[in-house]
Amino acid sequence: MGLCRIPPLNSFLRQPPQRLLRASFSSTAATHIASPPLFLRPARHSASKEDLQAFHSWASSLTYSDPDQNHLLCELRWLLQDACASSLDTHELLSSSQQMGPVPLRVELNGLYGLWRERVEERRPLQYLVGCEHWRDMVLVVKEGVLIPRPETEAVVDMAAKAMKGKAGGPWADLGTGSGALALGIARVIGEGEEDRVYAVDLSPVAVEVAKFNVQRYGLEDKIEVRQGSWFEPLGDLKGRLAGIVSNPPYIPSSDLPGLQAEVSKHEPWLALDGGEDGLKHLLHLCEGSSAALRSGGFFVFETNGDEQSKFIANFLATNFHDVFSGVKISKDFAGIGRFISGFRR
Ligand SMILES: C[S@@+](CC[C@H](N)C(=O)[O-])C[C@H]1O[C@@H](n2cnc3c(N)ncnc32)[C@H](O)[C@@H]1O
Repeated sequence: MGLCRIPPLNSFLRQPPQRLLRASFSSTAATHIASPPLFLRPARHSASKEDLQAFHSWASSLTYSDPDQNHLLCELRWLLQDACASSLDTHELLSSSQQMGPVPLRVELNGLYGLWRERVEERRPLQYLVGCEHWRDMVLVVKEGVLIPRPETEAVVDMAAKAMKGKAGGPWADLGTGSGALALGIARVIGEGEEDRVYAVDLSPVAVEVAKFNVQRYGLEDKIEVRQGSWFEPLGDLKGRLAGIVSNPPYIPSSDLPGLQAEVSKHEPWLALDGGEDGLKHLLHLCEGSSAALRSGGFFVFETNGDEQSKFIANFLATNFHDVFSGVKISKDFAGIGRFISGFRR
């Protein structure tokens, strides 16, 4: 399979979202994760402006023959932005001809060279190197072992918010939470009632650790409970009670995984990607499980690999669950691909 069949899993490299300002985030939770993201680390190091300019021209030169050069140069600016604790922005710093004192850094200058080598030579995603990704209006901590949340998945939160309107509150589940992205997004739009909670489930212990960290960092411990286990297994106490289920499950056919671009296939966890032989294994399980887990009128929305998979699931539901679900529909992502399948428990 060619890369063009999986734009969403590549899109973080091709269509970077606008970076957010960091100033509004507290760093109090940073001490609870083994290696905090670069932008939360104290500025214990420094370098001269000339040293940083030399680093920038060396780092730029490594990108010259890369087809993704423009994107890499953009990432280089982000790396410097996270590494420098200067009041000047990266552009001003690099273009300034004025004399200035040492620039405070959150990583040693040598470390900065090492990080950029890893980005260009090892194709390690920048998000793993700096330890965070910008998603909706949040900056989520990520690390190797956890999927980097993708921009197209943001739409799931909007669909869930729309489905909540005018309905009684109640518990929601984010199945396969990864960094906790969807759970956090939903917790910020859900009601204030006692029952309005999000249950975030993942099989991966690394994902559970990272999701808990992000929940704590955004002060959402009262709204989100992270549980480890497989899909519906840790949610036995909520059977038939869920007001909504969201999931972006692994949906890539197993044989396609080695052909993904190196950033994905070499560095992202296959547990987060591998959807079995035809990519449908987990999606079908989620459809079946939702029939028992949702209350009457409850909503579900799942991300899929795109048009073909979405159509297959829609047909599967029409054939096997016609009496169970209503209003089943396919919604497009921002690239016009039929990415999401949603519906209601009758
Ligand atoms: C495509 S990632 C989505 C992560 C996150 N929701 C997001 O959108 O960024 C799929 C997630 O499902 C998790 N997963 C895989 N198999 C699972 C299972 N049997 N039960 C629960 N989670 C599982 C993976 O660990 C991974 O975090």
